[in-house]
Amino acid sequence: MDPHVFVLFGATGDLSKRLILPALVDLTRSNPDLKMRVLGVSRTEYDDDAFRRDAIDGLVSVGGLGRGEATEWVNTYIFYQSLDGDPTPDDYERVRLRADELAHRFELGPSRVLYLALPPAAFEMTAEWLGRTGMNRPHDDGGKGERWVRLVVEKPFGHSLASARHLNEVLHRHFDESQIYRIDHYLGKETVQNLLVFRLANPIFERLWNRDAIERVEIYVSEDLDVGTRGAYYDRAGAMRDMIQNHLTQLFTLVAMEVPSSPGADAIRSEKVKVLRSVAPLSGKDVVLGQYTGGRLDGRSVEPYTDLKGVAPDSTTETFAAVRLSVNNWRWQGVPFVLRTGKVMKKRTTEVRVVFRPPPVAFFRDLEGCELKSNLLRIELQPDEGFSLTFGVKRPGDGFVVEPQRFHVDYAEAVGDPPSAYRTLVEDLIRGDQTLFVHGDEVEASWALYDPILKRPRKVHPYAPGSWGPEAADAL
Ligand code: BG6
Repeated sequence: MDPHVFVLFGATGDLSKRLILPALVDLTRSNPDLKMRVLGVSRTEYDDDAFRRDAIDGLVSVGGLGRGEATEWVNTYIFYQSLDGDPTPDDYERVRLRADELAHRFELGPSRVLYLALPPAAFEMTAEWLGRTGMNRPHDDGGKGERWVRLVVEKPFGHSLASARHLNEVLHRHFDESQIYRIDHYLGKETVQNLLVFRLANPIFERLWNRDAIERVEIYVSEDLDVGTRGAYYDRAGAMRDMIQNHLTQLFTLVAMEVPSSPGADAIRSEKVKVLRSVAPLSGKDVVLGQYTGGRLDGRSVEPYTDLKGVAPDSTTETFAAVRLSVNNWRWQGVPFVLRTGKVMKKRTTEVRVVFRPPPVAFFRDLEGCELKSNLLRIELQPDEGFSLTFGVKRPGDGFVVEPQRFHVDYAEAVGDPPSAYRTLVEDLIRGDQTLFVHGDEVEASWALYDPILKRPRKVHPYAPGSWGPEAADAL
């Protein structure tokens, strides 16, 4: 990994504290030779020491580090530069000079990460100023070797097709696509990457991965948490924008794409775009939306969504969405893909279910006590990572009574605990591997799919906390 300065915009925010700094600690621990310094940037009026105290508290309380080790790490790696409440070009110039000074002092060379851990409204302006102050180009230290600048943008990438295009345009004004790393943290989850390995390293499955053998595919991300304190953001987003357009659609593309020509970033991302463009336009019948009412879940009481702070009392924002996608290509014609996600559902689970076609002649169907079902492949991404395949087996005794049996592989037990998604993504970013980051074309193709449906009048079905969402969704 090349030496560099890691400039973290939004350094005092929740994302930096909870996920980015702990990921950097983990990374430097397993790569003690990595030459890097972090320059935290935000509007909070701190100096190095005040920010360091804050960062230490964060690493102890949410990063799980002891105070001693957190202090040692922070004092080695962390520096800080504040921006004005209403930043001016001079502010960005000061950030540039400070980053250059750190690079010089610690011999970190010309390369930079520019990580925008910022609210989406700040992406465009920040990218613009970074371009104008020349931070989009490597610092000229006169030396040789690798030199790069990588810009990291967090989801949401726009809230519609038009806004996503506009964001891409602004980013491309100053940064080449090869410099832009858009984070959808689902792609950093080891089990999500394992979807690729599962398909492409096990020909037994890839040969069956088509309309001849598969009846339907269901992708679930159900959460037991409510919207909590995020009402103001969530009420403008809803489950379609917060989860379906990005995380679930990413899972869909990995399951449905064609086999890429190589394991490289460009080949994989281009297959993902192709499959997105093969999805038939959605009609009103393909989408069911829901909103949770008040109730109880796991012994705790859940306030109705519309009572939350920041949520309009007559809000029709969906906290549940189910969408049926039909892929118009040779592999998947006629196979529905159902994407389904919701808040305060019965159980937290993220899984892909591949339902195989039943036998052409149901040999055992009419026998008494027979529970014959289709073969079902469940790839469980969280919280219990693993996969299982359900077969029909003969119940011992007379006659042919068939019952389903599940063969299960526990991922962590088999291969060890996976690293955090951010740890994986941060390492790939520094190595310059874009495979697990979202290409601008993918973002636009995904918005192009959902945009028309988001603009239509909406019917939102109520559902109770602790359920699996509104019954109307079962029809999909
Ligand atoms: C975020 C959404 O992107 O993903 C949240 O904004 C959601 O609403 C979260 O809770 C789910 O992520 P995970 O990793 O807990 O499945």
